[in-house]
Amino acid sequence: MKLFRRKHAADLQAEAKNDTRLKRALGPVNLTALGIGAIIGAGIFVLTGHAAAKYAGPAIAISFVLAGLACAFAGLCYAEFAAMIPVSGSAYTYAYATLGEFIAWIIGWDLILEYLFAAATVAVGWSGYVVSFLKDFGIVIPPEFSAAIGTHLIQIPATLAAALKINDGWTSLNPDLLNQIKLAGVDAATLGQATAILNVPAMLIILAVTLLLVLGIKESATFNNVIVAIKMIVILTFIAVGIAFINRHNWHPFIPPPIGPGEFGWGGVLHGAAVIFFAYIGFDAVSTAAQEAKNPQRDMPIGMLASLGICTVLYIAVALVLTGVVNYQTLNVPAPIAVAVDAFGKNLAWLRTFVKIGAIAGLSSVILVMLLGQPRIFYCMAKDGLLPQIFSSVHPKFQTPWVAQIFTGGVAMLVAGLFPIGLLGELVSIGTLLAFAIVCAGVMVLRKINPGIHRPFRTPAVWLVAPLGIISCGGLMLALPGDTWLRLIIWMIIGFVIYFAYGHRHSKLHQGLSGKAGGQL
Ligand code: ALA
Repeated sequence: MKLFRRKHAADLQAEAKNDTRLKRALGPVNLTALGIGAIIGAGIFVLTGHAAAKYAGPAIAISFVLAGLACAFAGLCYAEFAAMIPVSGSAYTYAYATLGEFIAWIIGWDLILEYLFAAATVAVGWSGYVVSFLKDFGIVIPPEFSAAIGTHLIQIPATLAAALKINDGWTSLNPDLLNQIKLAGVDAATLGQATAILNVPAMLIILAVTLLLVLGIKESATFNNVIVAIKMIVILTFIAVGIAFINRHNWHPFIPPPIGPGEFGWGGVLHGAAVIFFAYIGFDAVSTAAQEAKNPQRDMPIGMLASLGICTVLYIAVALVLTGVVNYQTLNVPAPIAVAVDAFGKNLAWLRTFVKIGAIAGLSSVILVMLLGQPRIFYCMAKDGLLPQIFSSVHPKFQTPWVAQIFTGGVAMLVAGLFPIGLLGELVSIGTLLAFAIVCAGVMVLRKINPGIHRPFRTPAVWLVAPLGIISCGGLMLALPGDTWLRLIIWMIIGFVIYFAYGHRHSKLHQGLSGKAGGQL
């Protein structure tokens, strides 16, 4: 029974009020910017093209609506918790108050996939954009130091690149590409080849962001506001200019007929939704800044729901413009928005550089907010005794959880330096969907076991919204491949081992040091 002991929501509220070590510096605008900072990134700048070309066609816009709906259900449930229990542990803390310590640990461990691994994933995407941007200015990063360990790279010359409709320069070699090179009549053995050792740019961006985050929340939020403004301007410019170049023929058929399971047709729309779900991840990161918000009870729901709403509208618009300007079949490239910009003609070629800057800015802020969220969850877990105390230490001058921050940065650097983006991305999505589903379940549990507690924000039609949240997130999880499920299960088993070896024994709730174990909330 100990496993399912809960913390009292009232105790958590008191705990948040009494813990004044973190600096309360964020208002509704900063929090909304934090949400947008975390949301718009690799999903829209990298994954959309692949999902449109391979699974959904122009109906990728419908995929964005479906994934956005799943996030809206989860976001409404998150908002009730975040306003009621404004503690920086986010879904981990909500689960502790509703479903008990063991489920809380599961979700805390699972959130590492969402935050730490997402930061590493996006850093790998950032590295790709930066390497290509520097190349435009004649600066070449050695291929050995710009990809995951063991990645086999091949050098594509400009003529071949034009024939294959891809970027020239070093790119990772896969059987598909090898086949295309062969079909173009080129012997791959005559091209430059290399095996990567480490993704150094990905590691460096994590190092830089970690240092910034150690220095202060206010400084980090200001930096985030600036880069969010840059990426919003780039995306709005792309939409505004692109509308004039839409050729309606590209939208016919809007839902291409199916050619296999999960490839086009409605099955493809669903598959596309599971892939681009990654693009929405991050709005919940706002909740990890609850103890640094000036008025969390009012501003947490605003920050989460406003950022989610703004990004949903932008995403649907980008998807429509992208697939309206060029045929969806040409979009299976790492920088699909640049493909559409090329179709705007020579006069607007400057937009290409502009889009790259927007993407680099966009990805930087995602890394920033994800790396901001993770240590705050570790901070709460350590305060509860489930992780070593050292993770809850706050820097006396900077008022940031610096030990957890540096640990997070160190691990994220290693992951980003060593692993490829594809493997990481789907793991992040499945982990996040699991967290969302548990939050939706938690909100219903707390309505039952503690109907009277003060809820500054109430999920509307909770008995409809929360089950729909569970069903839609579960459905998207089912659309992800089997090996991603296997990785999730292995990750969870590692988590169970750590919990029973350490957390269970050191839990303050079990030792009676925090909350009133076992009682009613
Ligand atoms: N939503 C974030 C991105 O797309 C994780 O990069």
